[in-house]
Amino acid sequence: MKRLQFIIVCLLIISINSYAQHRILPEPVSANWGSGSFFINKQTTIVTTNNEEQKNLSALLNSYLQQAIGYPLPQANSRLAKNIIELQMDKQYDTTIGDEGYRLTVSPQKILIKANKASGLFYGIQTFVQLLPIEDLLSIKNKSTFKIPVVSITDYPRFAWRGLMLDVSRHFFTIQEIKKMIDEMVHYKFNLLHLHLTDDQGWRIEIKSLPELTKKGAWRVPRTGLWWDRQPPQPSEAATDGGFYTQEEIKELIKYAAEKKVQIMPEIDIPGHSLAAIASYPYLSCTKLNYQVNPGSKFYGVDDDALCAGNDSTYVFLEKVLSEIAALFPFQYIHIGGDECFKGFWKTCAVCQHCMKENNLKNENELQSFFIKRVEKILQSKGKKLMGWDEILEGGFAPEATVMSWRGMQGGIEAAEQKHHVVMSPTDYCYLDLYQGDPAAEPPTYSMLRLRDVYHFDPVPTAVDANLILGGQGNLWTESVPTFRHAEYMLWPRAFALAEVLWTAKEKLNLNDFIKRTEENLKILDRANVNHARSFYDAIIIPTKDAKGSLQLEFDTEIDGLEIYYSFDNTFPDQFSSHYNKADGKINIPKDAETLRVITFRQGKPIGKMITVPLADLEKRVKTD
Ligand code: ACM
Ligand code: ZN
Repeated sequence: MKRLQFIIVCLLIISINSYAQHRILPEPVSANWGSGSFFINKQTTIVTTNNEEQKNLSALLNSYLQQAIGYPLPQANSRLAKNIIELQMDKQYDTTIGDEGYRLTVSPQKILIKANKASGLFYGIQTFVQLLPIEDLLSIKNKSTFKIPVVSITDYPRFAWRGLMLDVSRHFFTIQEIKKMIDEMVHYKFNLLHLHLTDDQGWRIEIKSLPELTKKGAWRVPRTGLWWDRQPPQPSEAATDGGFYTQEEIKELIKYAAEKKVQIMPEIDIPGHSLAAIASYPYLSCTKLNYQVNPGSKFYGVDDDALCAGNDSTYVFLEKVLSEIAALFPFQYIHIGGDECFKGFWKTCAVCQHCMKENNLKNENELQSFFIKRVEKILQSKGKKLMGWDEILEGGFAPEATVMSWRGMQGGIEAAEQKHHVVMSPTDYCYLDLYQGDPAAEPPTYSMLRLRDVYHFDPVPTAVDANLILGGQGNLWTESVPTFRHAEYMLWPRAFALAEVLWTAKEKLNLNDFIKRTEENLKILDRANVNHARSFYDAIIIPTKDAKGSLQLEFDTEIDGLEIYYSFDNTFPDQFSSHYNKADGKINIPKDAETLRVITFRQGKPIGKMITVPLADLEKRVKTD
């Protein structure tokens, strides 16, 4: 009898724990898994009130269900007792969950999503959809009931600013593509899309009072090769590559995003990165020369891509641009860039130098600060706040500016010390344009940011007032991202890691568990035709040199549970080839070997990409300093 009781208890524990492995991403603040299930069937009714926002959310939930399970549910505003999914707005403000939090309770009779605000209900709905078992979703043709595990979830975000940036200047993406990105990002509870709308390689937004910006500035000569290696525009060559958004299209996009609780922050990158504007209106630069929009060829320091900071007509231009931008975008912030401004032409410009003398500015950094402060005044006159990359700290900070820290966290730390707000998006954790796997097996880009490194991002440095850190953001620069499919490849799954560190309580972060949920969510992306990388399955090659300068190799993996096999003999390695144990340390490279091939397996099946790399290339990777 004792034995039977023991077995029953064991079975119960197993059944409860089997639900504990879920695919909710980001991980909720608390989830208490029970036993039993709620079954969705064709009679299950979505219950809500007549409130407009709630009715919209009910329709949204139904559209998600239609996509997921293949049929919509009846909706009602009366109180049914059983077989219901109820969306309920709290009558009294629930301070634990705040504006974006929610409580989601699944019992065998009903599912209840409660929140203070529509955005909380919206995130409760996202979590609810992630409770649908993936196996059921992958076989919906044969199914009409869908099992939801009993659970009680309380959830709210760690940070209010959970952003992704898309650079639409270096490559143009359509409104439809941006909407698809929004659709995906909200499943993972991002709430801000930063559009990098202008740069040297294209001006992407209609400014009605300055038509040349999109007549000329939105177009460049077509090129395909490696960025920075491309041929400059040739005389009389037609500029046919590019595009821009009309103000009507932007309005429609903002409305679409708002329905999904996403704010859109526009960036007009000034005073540097302005060649597309200068190509449109040559009076804007110090040299006033005629330039073409850059197609990805080297020009930095040669073509003058900075606005003349001493010329009043520059500020007249900016007043026009920022008036229209401020009227178009409801978000409180306008990002004005401020990064990487080449100041060489300011040094030799009589107008800039005169302006510096008149305003007692000691150097060009102070001229930049003078410029940013004038732009801040323009923004304030339109009821907007200024955000800029951390270079805006140089030469003195604009009084109310907020910093987006990209060259590491230091700019953000300095800004917070001066009591300014900060969004952290340091290159080493947040730059989604970097390699995510071995360069020999990835499309060419620069530097390295693996999935697990993103997961170790903490936007709040020690000894900084956490209240000043609004949150964090992943940035997808698109110099080497020519298509939207490739943008998706660069975003996912690294944006999963960002989503989790920006939402989930720090003490709940767990890399191994995150990887399990990532693998489940990649199946969901597959189902939705969203491209993604699987580079976290690939082997990591660690080349070093011994005291005599000979190449040595070690291997690693980003995740546990993978086997590494390799060859030096120009054959494809498989599970019968040389096997690498991490305890092996450095391996012997056979004499005269030229090429390494390495692949990972899991449970007897290949899972990582095969990486083929000449040993000469690995030698070059070893840092000699
Ligand atoms: C930047 O990456 N230049 C902000
Ligand atoms: Zn000048």
